[in-house]
Amino acid sequence: MKQIASRTAVAAFALALVLGLPACKKEQPAPGESTPTKGLPQMDVKNQSFDSLPDGTAVELYTLTNDKGLRARLMTYGATLVSLEVPDKNGRLGDIVLGYDRLDGYVKNSPYFGSIVGRYGNRIAKGRFMLDGLIYRLATNNGENHLHGGVKGFDKVIWKAEPVKEAGAVGVKFSYLSPDGEEGYPGNLKATVIYTLTNDNELRISYEATADKATPVNLTHHSYFNLAEGKNDILGHELMLNAARFTPVDKGLIPTGELAPVQGTPMDFTTPTAIGSRIVQVEGGYDHNYVLNRSGEGLSLAARLSDAQSGRVLEIKTTEPGIQFYSGNFLDGTITGKSGLVYRKHYGLCLETQHFPDSPNKPMFPSTILKPGETYKSLTVHKFTTR
Ligand code: GLA
Repeated sequence: MKQIASRTAVAAFALALVLGLPACKKEQPAPGESTPTKGLPQMDVKNQSFDSLPDGTAVELYTLTNDKGLRARLMTYGATLVSLEVPDKNGRLGDIVLGYDRLDGYVKNSPYFGSIVGRYGNRIAKGRFMLDGLIYRLATNNGENHLHGGVKGFDKVIWKAEPVKEAGAVGVKFSYLSPDGEEGYPGNLKATVIYTLTNDNELRISYEATADKATPVNLTHHSYFNLAEGKNDILGHELMLNAARFTPVDKGLIPTGELAPVQGTPMDFTTPTAIGSRIVQVEGGYDHNYVLNRSGEGLSLAARLSDAQSGRVLEIKTTEPGIQFYSGNFLDGTITGKSGLVYRKHYGLCLETQHFPDSPNKPMFPSTILKPGETYKSLTVHKFTTR
């Protein structure tokens, strides 16, 4: 191949001379051959086989790399973000999402580590809702409630995947057809989720869905972030949430329907505040939906998370009206994750952009009903910087 490449280059050089064209000094790579990088990372998307499910179904792993060396690994099981390596203030890359080294862990016991959650992110009270005069009953998998799409939600299915290459970005497009009646939901739902890693150090997640019957849809992404690479808890991380109100919940974590002001309460993250500074005042820890301050449609600032020690900063923008801030309250040290790290309480936190929980039963909340002929669209952008 190399021989052919250099012969081609010599021929091109000779031809350039004959035609009087400015001869390019640098040797051009042959088609399919990558440009020499002198050790610098280069934007790329690669796929390989990861492992197989107990029933033999193959699971693929896609690795996205941008020009700065940031690396995201995604698998077809649950359209899951398996790892996300971003630089610290010294330029050293580290993985800032919790998970497992192997597929096995995700299949046996995963609290939605890095996965896409659907058809409905978060809870629907008693797994029941009424739509166009009909009562629908969904699978209940969280006490009497329906959580994150049910017993076998979008986090536990195999998605089709194809690589995506754009100017300044690489990605993976995942697609899944959720059949009519799956987990009790009406209609066939075609869902696509595209993850892209840009050369501006952004991880963008864009969602689309269409259905042949009216159905609730509320897709989200469930990474557990730990900007200190999972070595400590996240109580020292500082968080800013661009939200003046939140949706208070009952004991089963179902919103009461009220939009309450955060001002003067431990729920207030309108200015950057250490997560641990008031967490003891919040029963069970943070697991609440915040009502984002936004004007109009389009991307709007939702959250900024930072860790002083590593210097890493994560900023989240979204088109969604809400964000679930979950402080990893149910992690209890029984999971040993990547590189043998033990995930204790508050060792990771989730910032799930979404519509509000239990919207199908709360007419006062923004609607989550997708009708035939409409297209569900949602975009969330995670931007990584350091300071
Ligand atoms: C969400 C929920 C939490 C919990 C986690 C997964 O964030 O709001 O109550 O179910 O997912 O463990």
